[in-house]
Amino acid sequence: MKLVTKDLLFVVFAAAVLAVVILVSGKETTKKVPHDAAHRATYEVLEKSGSRREAERGCERCHNEKMNPLPANHPPKDRCLFCHKMERAAR
Ligand code: HEC
Ligand code: HEC
Repeated sequence: MKLVTKDLLFVVFAAAVLAVVILVSGKETTKKVPHDAAHRATYEVLEKSGSRREAERGCERCHNEKMNPLPANHPPKDRCLFCHKMERAAR
């Protein structure tokens, strides 16, 4: 009887872990870098260099304290494109 309870607990635990994993993975809602006029140069750099690191070097030219600032609760902001995906991937 004791063994059965233990097994049941394990199943519940495993299901809970699985549920959390699914919830977290479905939560990729960070905004993409819009494919608009303001970001055209960014897309061009990405396309030419094929390097996200190269492309995100330009972000802070427009996204800083004075222009298009990041929200106050913004997470650590190095590697912008690690979180903000480009709408069109580099080839
Ligand atoms: C030439 C200036 C410029 C550059 C360079 C630039 N941005 Fe922007 N960005 C803007 C402006 C203006 C807006 C607000 C209007 C818009 O959506 O185009 C904006 C909006 C955004 C938004 C919000 C989009 C939304 O849906 O609300 C994100 C995310 C963003 N930029 C990320 C980036 C990242 C990451 C980079 C670097 C790879 C970058 N931007 C480079 C000017 C720029
Ligand atoms: C660790 C992940 C992460 C990194 C790195 C990151 N961001 Fe963000 N950013 C977020 C999250 C999360 C939000 C708020 C929720 C959302 O955008 O959907 C956000 C919000 C923004 C917004 C406001 C979007 C809007 O209109 O609501 C802009 C603009 C932006 N980030 C630009 C940048 C730029 C530029 C960089 C690089 C200098 C950068 N981010 C790096 C995760 C990140």
